[in-house]
Amino acid sequence: MSDLIQLGAVNERPKAPRPEDLELKFSQTAIDQLNALKTHYPEEKACILPGLWIAQREYGGYLSANAIAEVAHRLERSYAEVEGVATFYSMYNTAHAVGKHMIEVCTCLSCHVCGAYRIADHLKAKLGVEFGETTADGLFTLHEVECLNACDRAPLLQIGDEYHGPVDAAYIDKLIDTLKSQESTVVKLADEIVKVHLKDGKN
Ligand code: FES
Repeated sequence: MSDLIQLGAVNERPKAPRPEDLELKFSQTAIDQLNALKTHYPEEKACILPGLWIAQREYGGYLSANAIAEVAHRLERSYAEVEGVATFYSMYNTAHAVGKHMIEVCTCLSCHVCGAYRIADHLKAKLGVEFGETTADGLFTLHEVECLNACDRAPLLQIGDEYHGPVDAAYIDKLIDTLKSQESTVVKLADEIVKVHLKDGKN
């Protein structure tokens, strides 16, 4: 079997739930927010992006097949259309469930020159995971990302809606300890983005 076919097999997408198996999990707040957002646009299709952010928050940071199906159901779109949007943008977590905190390490040019891979190695050793993996306790997911557009702060990490940089090993050790007792920064990021979408409609 070619590498390409094997890769496809590894990355197989979860199947859409049958309509009778769909579980509607949005809170009343989420339903109200989605309804408010629908009034911002001439057609509901335009709510797919903010609808997915609501779902990412409501489902604890991961867009499962059920989460995507719930957005499709509430916006009266097809599952394929919503899944196509969700899997196109890297900030939606569709590949696997993520930890409470996603640590994104920029390894692009400026960060690379300033020691991003040393930082990545330190994080991997401290957390016991590779890029794309989540710690066994479900607290941290580690990801490698492209330029975060704050090269003057290299080497840079993004965690939720905050940038950290320039970082070194001592800073990271303290940061990990602090994050352990904090609410999910993945969920917080999704919530902040929903609020921005809601605010945009009032301007
Ligand atoms: S290269 Fe890391 S923020 Fe630009």
